Amino acid sequence: MSTIVSPSLLSADFGHLADDLEMINRSEAEWLHIDVMDGVFVPNISFGFPVLKYVAKLCNKPLDVHLMIVDPDRYINEVKELGTKIMNVHYEACRHIHRVIQQIRAAGMSPAVTLNPGTPVCVLRDIICDVDMVLLMSVNPGFGGQKFIEHTVEKVRELKKMIQETGSKALIEVDGGVNAETGARLVEAGADALVAGNYVFSAENPEEVIKGLKAL
Ligand code: DX5
Ligand code: ZN
Repeated sequence: MSTIVSPSLLSADFGHLADDLEMINRSEAEWLHIDVMDGVFVPNISFGFPVLKYVAKLCNKPLDVHLMIVDPDRYINEVKELGTKIMNVHYEACRHIHRVIQQIRAAGMSPAVTLNPGTPVCVLRDIICDVDMVLLMSVNPGFGGQKFIEHTVEKVRELKKMIQETGSKALIEVDGGVNAETGARLVEAGADALVAGNYVFSAENPEEVIKGLKAL
C-alpha cells in the first residue's frame, strides 16, 4: 500500500494560492492538510474560515484540517461546512477529548487526535478505538520549516503497537520536518500518512516530490 501524502497549505504561496491548489489537484497527493492557528494554543496565526471557504472551493482533494486552537469543538460546524473529511483536534486543546471525538463523528467527519511532541502516546489508550487517525507532531506546532524531532520515530512504533494490541483501525499521520529521509524512517516505523509543507512547496518540482513521498 502506498503512503498517504497530505501537503500542508501553510507553505504555499499565498499570493498565488489558486496556482498552488491547481498543482495539488494535479498531483498524486491524497489529501490537502490545512493548519488553522489561533495565536493562543500556538504562537502564530494562519488563516481562518473566510479564506478556507475559497480554498475548499478550488481544491478537489479531501481536506485534512489540523486545528491548533483552544476548544476546537466551538468550530465543528464551520469545519464541517468546508466539506472536511478529517478534523484533527489537539489532545492538549480539548477539555473533554472523548466528547469532542463523538461530536466530530456525529457531524459526519472522521475524528483524529493530535499529540504535541511533549505528550506521550499512552494518553491515547482509552480513545484509540474511537478515532480514525492519530496525528503525531514531529515539531512543536506553529510554524513550517522546523527541524524534525527524532523521538517521533519511536512514538510511531509505540503507537503502532497500541493500535495492533487494541484492534483499533486508526491511521498514523506525522506532521513536521518530513522529507524523503525522515519520511522513509517514519513509514518503516508504521506511519500511514505524511504531512509535508516546506519539502513540497520549496521544491522545484512539487509534484515529483509528492510522488516520491507516496512511494516510500
Ligand atoms: C506546523 C504545522 C505543519 C507544517 C509542517 O505547526 O502543523 O503542518 O505546515 O511544515 P513542514 O513540513 O515544513 O515542517
Ligand atoms: Zn499541521
